[in-house]
Order: sequence, then structure tokens, then C-alpha cells
Amino acid sequence: MPTDLDLTSYWVRTAPTPGYAPLEDDRSVDVAVIGGGIVGITTAYLLKREGLRVAVLERREVSRGVTGYTTAKITSSHSLIYTTLLKKFGEEGARTYGRANQAGIEKIASLVEELSISCDFERAENFIYTEDPRYLQDVRDEVEAAKKVGLPADFTTDTELPFPIQGAVRFANQAQFHPRDYLLALAASIDGGGSHVFEGSAVTGVDQGDLCKVRTERGSVTATDVVVATHMPILDRGMFFTKVHPYRSYAIAGRIEGRAMPRGMYLSTGAGSTRSIRSIRDGDERLLLVGGEGHKTGTEPDTMKFYRRLERWASHHYGLDDPPYRWATQDNVSVDNVPYVGRLTRGSDHVYTATGFGKWGMTNGTVSALILTDLIVGRSNDWASLYDSKRIKPLASGQKFVQENTEVATHFVGDRLSAEHRGNPRCTHMGCVLRKNTGEGTWDCPCHGSRFDADGNVIQGPAIAPLSQ
Ligand code: FES
Repeated sequence: MPTDLDLTSYWVRTAPTPGYAPLEDDRSVDVAVIGGGIVGITTAYLLKREGLRVAVLERREVSRGVTGYTTAKITSSHSLIYTTLLKKFGEEGARTYGRANQAGIEKIASLVEELSISCDFERAENFIYTEDPRYLQDVRDEVEAAKKVGLPADFTTDTELPFPIQGAVRFANQAQFHPRDYLLALAASIDGGGSHVFEGSAVTGVDQGDLCKVRTERGSVTATDVVVATHMPILDRGMFFTKVHPYRSYAIAGRIEGRAMPRGMYLSTGAGSTRSIRSIRDGDERLLLVGGEGHKTGTEPDTMKFYRRLERWASHHYGLDDPPYRWATQDNVSVDNVPYVGRLTRGSDHVYTATGFGKWGMTNGTVSALILTDLIVGRSNDWASLYDSKRIKPLASGQKFVQENTEVATHFVGDRLSAEHRGNPRCTHMGCVLRKNTGEGTWDCPCHGSRFDADGNVIQGPAIAPLSQ
């Protein structure tokens, strides 16, 4: 495998670059939104439709961060989550999560239709499958759990996969799309009429008060409400970095010949590395997308080996050789499996956030935007209590919380003493020793997932400040 591979995602390479100007003066709007991914752009769009003036402040380019590096499945079937949620949140909690994510699918569908967005949106079935007989009962249990809370699930052994499976959970009428084409269309509808989209505008701080002030290096936005939609919140108040933990995984895409292209969306469950499969409509043709090989951020120096593993698997099963597209994504997983959406802290009446979407940001991100919009305009929302950003659920999260934060403490102390990492730069968030990601040429933080490019610029928060020399 050549070492100078382009690791830009299919979504970023095949969508235009609108080039919104940076913020260079002081503005005043009703709501400032920090972050131009699916949460920030959808929230800003919905708030503008409510008659509010909004300003989106994106550090780099709209939909070129996490949302531009996803597999872009739009589904309420999140691996075996309903079995888990029934145990942790009871039937009502699992039902609410399912309803919210089904509504997220339909919200995306309705926006695509209303705005005539050309983003290859198409309906597809979603499958969670296992090849391993030891996990068959888990799949059957998930079917029952999903049915119990009213979701369109059934059990099947009939799939398009080119290898035998033991069984699968099938969800009907889910969807997939091109996420960047979708978000760029929403962004275009935001900019103008007293509302703005600013790119190249990294936020350096937020002053809270009756009126909040969001500061960048060259300007500021004064607003009644602020939404922090930066994947991991860049403001430490709220301590979300202790409740949400970052993972990376990998994807490849390319043409296949002589094998059946799947039309459904697939995710494996069971022992071993996960495989995520879907196809992408690419003009008159289709590409196969294969993802997987997840690990905690900042813990694997040789990330190219994950692409090699995916390529071996895709070549064996689909004849996908030398894929033209390879990319990596980052996901934040919450300690109790439900995202945190709402006010940043108990005392911050006007600063909101959303984080911890598991690996399901398309629906959970859209659900977050719907909740945040209702909170800001003062409407009640049926899902807000389940997703409450300030919830404390020791039974649902306690064990995972302790395990994850013990790992962080081990990195924080142990990496400083380790000969292997001595001399590496320190993260500008809280000082953890960064690890070199040789595949992507970045410095990644094993504590809370901040990432920096080779020049020290922030790619991914919660860090705000670049690395010093
Ligand atoms: Fe928190 Fe690096 S992201 S210390």
C-alpha cells in the first residue's frame, strides 16, 4: 500500500466547496451555533425556520469534519441497542429512543423533499447480522426488543451478503444518503436574511450572561442562546469528556465487478471486528462501502493496518481491490448508550450542547437538532428527558464510567513516565501526552480524543488551542 494515500472521504471528495467567508467583525444574532456538522447545521436551519436569526461558526469547513467522514446510514437500528436500552432505561426509555430515531429518519426525508435536495437519499433496509451461532440468540433477542417498543423489525436469514449468516435483525424503510450534499444544501438555506454561515472561524471562548458572547480570533457573535455542536463539546463546563469516549474506525469504497452489489445496509455483531456494509450511488454506477476496525482514539500508531485488513476482507468477499476511497471517522460513545442533549450545565440557561451519538450521528444528530430547537423556542419535547444532558444514571452508566475514566487516568499519569512517549507533545486540552498516528500524520489524544495535524492545528476537540512548538 503506498504511503501517500489520499485519506479524504468519498463524501468530501465528491461535493463542492462553497467557501463561506470567516467572521471578521462583531455581529449580533438570536442564536450562535458553534460547529458546522449535522447537529449545528440542522439546528441552525430549524431555528431560522422558527424566525430566529442564527450564525454558524465552523472552525474549518461545513460538513468536512466528523459528518463528512461517516458511513451515512440513516437508521434507528443501532446494533443491538434495544436489548441494552430495555435493561438500562426500561420499556418507556427504549420506546422513546426508537421513536426519536424513527422521527430523525423522517425529518431528513422531509427536508430532502421540501428543499428538493439532490443528495442520493434512498430508502433501504437495515440489517444487523451475525455469522457466529453463539450470537444468534442475541440477534433474536434484539428482534423481540425492537418489536416490543414498536419498531419495524423482524428476523431473517435472507440477505444479499455473499457469505452464510446465522441470522439478522431486519429494519424496514430506513435510508441512506450523501451527507455532505445534504448539509451543504441546508447551509445554503441558512446563509442570508440576517443569518450567517462562517467558515475558518475557530471559537476561542464563550462568555455567558443574559446575552452570551462567542469569541473568535477576528470577531465575535453576541447572541441570546449558544449551541455547542462540536462533536465533543469544546467547553469543559459540563465535563462531558468524562461521560463520552472517543473511538476511531475506518472505511473504504470502490467499484466491484461480477459480484452482487448490496442494496441494503449491513452491520455485523458478534466476536471480532465489526463490518459495516452499504452501497453508494455514484452517478449511474454504485460503489461498495465497507467499514470497521474500530479502536479507542490515540491508542494505535499504525492506523494503515486497519485499511489493509478492510481491503483484504473486501477483496475476498466482494473482489474490491485497490479502492480509490479510504477514510477514518471518529465517534463519541456515551457511558449509558444514549446521547447527551440539552443545557451545557445546570446553571447555563442559554448554552446548549449535544454529544455522544454512539456511531449513529445521522439520526441521533437530527434528533438532537429537533430537541435543541424545541428547548430554545420554549416548546416541550417528548424525547428531551431521555436525552437530558444533565442526567445522572449510576445504574446505567456507573461501571462504564469508572472503566473509561480509569483508562484516562492511566494515560494521564503513565504516558508521562513512559520512555515510549517521552518527548511527544502534550494535548492543549488537559495535558495528556499525544500519540503519533502514523497513517494519518496526526497527533491524537488518548484521553478525550482531541486531534492535531502535523502543524499542530486542532482537527478535533475538545481542545481549542493549537500545539505550541
Ligand atoms: Fe483532553 Fe487531550 S483531549 S487531554
